[in-house]
Amino acid sequence: MNFAAAVITVSDSCAGGKRRDGSGNTLKRLLMEAGAISVVQVIVPDEREQISSSLREYCDGKCVDLIITTGGTGLAARDVTPEATLDVIDREAPGFAEAIRAASLRHTQRAMLSRAVSGIRASTFILNFPGSPRACEESFAIIEPVLGHAIELLGGVDIECAR
Ligand code: MTE
Repeated sequence: MNFAAAVITVSDSCAGGKRRDGSGNTLKRLLMEAGAISVVQVIVPDEREQISSSLREYCDGKCVDLIITTGGTGLAARDVTPEATLDVIDREAPGFAEAIRAASLRHTQRAMLSRAVSGIRASTFILNFPGSPRACEESFAIIEPVLGHAIELLGGVDIECAR
């Protein structure tokens, strides 16, 4: 499966240079191992507008097939990644977020703290993951068996977004 991906790390401390982007690096590696032809990494602070504009940029301008966000899905006041994602998607695809939450309970009961969502903007698939390298590994393992099929279903040659 050939696909182009973007990883958006949502973290005040990574954006401020106070913490290294372990989750983003982990996701980049996992996506390359899964066959991605390119993976762009971006870091944004926990700001709803900045998250949604970065999502729009990679869906509309750069036309990637898949965006995985990491971080900002929890209950803290600044955790707004799900809201920013809902601001930009055309349709929800809730099965992915539900599957990640349900299967993650095998790893930690705290999985229920994640408010992650999943959905589609135009032909780009957007998934929210929690913000730790371990959570990213665990979440990716859950969705990987179905990821290729999801991307194929969303594909088809788009004249303005030819890949
Ligand atoms: N899911 C998995 N698979 N593994 C984890 O370690 N951590 C949980 C949860 N989901 C976790 C997980 C915790 S502790 C939190 S607070 C929420 O994700 C939200 O994390 P976030 O705010 O970094 O997105």
